[in-house]
Amino acid sequence: MNEIEYEHLKRKIRQLIQIDLNNYKENQMMRRLDGFISRAKATDIAQYCSKLDGDPMEIAKLRNFITINVSEFYRDQVHFETLRKMVFPSLLRNSARLNIWSAGCSDGQEPYSIAMILDELTPGIKHRVFATDIDKESLSKGNAGGPYQPAEVRNLPQTLLMKYFYFGEDGYTVNEKIRERIIFSQLDLTRDKFPIGFDLIVCRNVTIYFSNETKRILSLNFQNALKENGILFIGATETMLDAADLGFQRVHPCFYKKVTNPISESPKVFSSAI
Ligand SMILES: C[S@@+](CC[C@H](N)C(=O)[O-])C[C@H]1O[C@@H](n2cnc3c(N)ncnc32)[C@H](O)[C@@H]1O
Repeated sequence: MNEIEYEHLKRKIRQLIQIDLNNYKENQMMRRLDGFISRAKATDIAQYCSKLDGDPMEIAKLRNFITINVSEFYRDQVHFETLRKMVFPSLLRNSARLNIWSAGCSDGQEPYSIAMILDELTPGIKHRVFATDIDKESLSKGNAGGPYQPAEVRNLPQTLLMKYFYFGEDGYTVNEKIRERIIFSQLDLTRDKFPIGFDLIVCRNVTIYFSNETKRILSLNFQNALKENGILFIGATETMLDAADLGFQRVHPCFYKKVTNPISESPKVFSSAI
């Protein structure tokens, strides 16, 4: 597609699914959309846009394609082990009840993994786990506790699987004890105001297609949303550019601690914000 077609598609996507593609890496997004649209058997962008009109299924497919909501429990095990063995013990020394935000939580696999680890470490303590995503369908599966397919739970230690799930015909469903620990809520990281006061923010595999400028603004906003010495947990394939300038220090692979106020920067509002 050319620039003019991309501009047209961006307007259409913003109008139909309220996602601002200006926050994404342009060349990469154009390439991905080209592939997606040809698989949708549209001859050109104009035809694809008219195909979208009045077709909720096609709109949902496009939204899922852009946001990519694949997830699993204990994704990248090694980093969940760092969380369990090093990060939580250190945070728990300063605060008996933690305030945690899973930002871009997909169907709930990530916040539930966190709630299970915490229940093992501090039985009976009700930490607050706030789980947000842009995608309503994902949130409703999360809220229902599943059901999840065997592939989604394959990394979970067997003890956690036995302790925190029911197994039925549809798959694995999280039990009430863990479900009641999570508050699911819709939030668009590029439009909505951030909640604040967190010991830990987990934002993994959400910003991989975002532009560097959008990632920088998000890091500043996460920094502002963390308590002093709070931790940001990012994805295994991600790195934070200019961590020190943004007021972070890398303490383990994928874990960044809030250390100071960012150099000459304050939290930003996106141009797409309403
Ligand atoms: C690949 S999943 C990652 C899920 C989980 N964090 C993990 O690592 O397994 C990316 C999630 O980010 C969500 N997402 C994408 N753009 C978003 C935005 N602007 N605001 C909030 N969530 C967003 C998607 O809906 C999707 O559920």
